[in-house]
Amino acid sequence: MKEKIDLSVEIAGVKLKNPVIAASGTFGYGDEITDLIDVSKLGAVVTKTITLEPRSGNPVPRLAETASGLLNTIGLQNVGVQKFLKEKWEDLRKLGVPVVVSIAGETAQEYVEVVKILEEVVGIAAIELNLSCPNVSKRIICKDSSLVEEIISQISRISKVPIIAKLSAQVDDLVYLSVLAEKSGAKALSLVNTFPGMAIDVKSWKPKLSTVTGGLSGPAIKPLALKCVWEVFGKVNIPIIGGGGISTAEDALEFFLAGANAVSVGTANFIDPMNPIKILNGLEEYFKSRKILKMQEIVGKLKVEE
Ligand SMILES: Cc1cc2nc3c(=O)[nH]c(=O)nc-3n(C[C@H](O)[C@H](O)[C@H](O)COP(=O)(O)O)c2cc1C
Repeated sequence: MKEKIDLSVEIAGVKLKNPVIAASGTFGYGDEITDLIDVSKLGAVVTKTITLEPRSGNPVPRLAETASGLLNTIGLQNVGVQKFLKEKWEDLRKLGVPVVVSIAGETAQEYVEVVKILEEVVGIAAIELNLSCPNVSKRIICKDSSLVEEIISQISRISKVPIIAKLSAQVDDLVYLSVLAEKSGAKALSLVNTFPGMAIDVKSWKPKLSTVTGGLSGPAIKPLALKCVWEVFGKVNIPIIGGGGISTAEDALEFFLAGANAVSVGTANFIDPMNPIKILNGLEEYFKSRKILKMQEIVGKLKVEE
């Protein structure tokens, strides 16, 4: 009897049928994309980051295309947690896929408040703490390791829902921060958010983004993000969701070999909403052609000569 390929993975104690996840902020609240793809085929989706109060985000222009990446300065525009629950959550629940709710705040207290509200809600697979948004007035939370520790430990004390910590590479020591996140109670890591960048319009001599600098995503950051995953792999005992510039199955495979248990796909959704499904199909093909049956056979199996 032929054995079947099993792409399932367990992230933060949540079983995903496959390791392809739609990244936060590039999938809205699910409502814009459901007409375009069969979302239930994905491993999980992560919502746009939600805060306690609604936020209007940064002024336009908030997006600028670069040669191999996208610059954004959305600035956590969102409807706020109450409206999210009232108007978006029921539809998200019906997608037939684990939904991870991404949250942020300016203080530990604000994160805790949002979690307390979400705790009342049935069906949230996990909460992703966005500790790494570069496009807000305060500096990114990640840069303050004691604040990261405080936020994660406070939340894991009160939360029944598992916590995923989304980190940025814009820190002194990502390995140290990752270990700290695990010790504080994170059940998975999401590595990494965007990298700071900028673009200038030489006709007007003005910056292309309202905030001058923003977060760079897309193919340009793939080698940087991949290195982050490889650096952290083996230093923590919790699963890693790798992301940054993944557009193809081959990109995803690189992340698995470097140590990611799952991958998040962001900017590639804007280029073609079918990309996560194409990545999934490509993975199945690859596994079939190499006679690989399970994800464990590939995760962290990069061959490095001693
Ligand atoms: C337009 C845009 C909005 C984003 N919004 C969020 C967000 O709300 N929360 C978050 O954690 N990450 C956000 N991100 C970051 C992505 O989730 C992802 O970590 C990053 O873009 C790198 O992956 P990619 O190269 O596949 O896009 C956003 C990215 C883009 C391009």
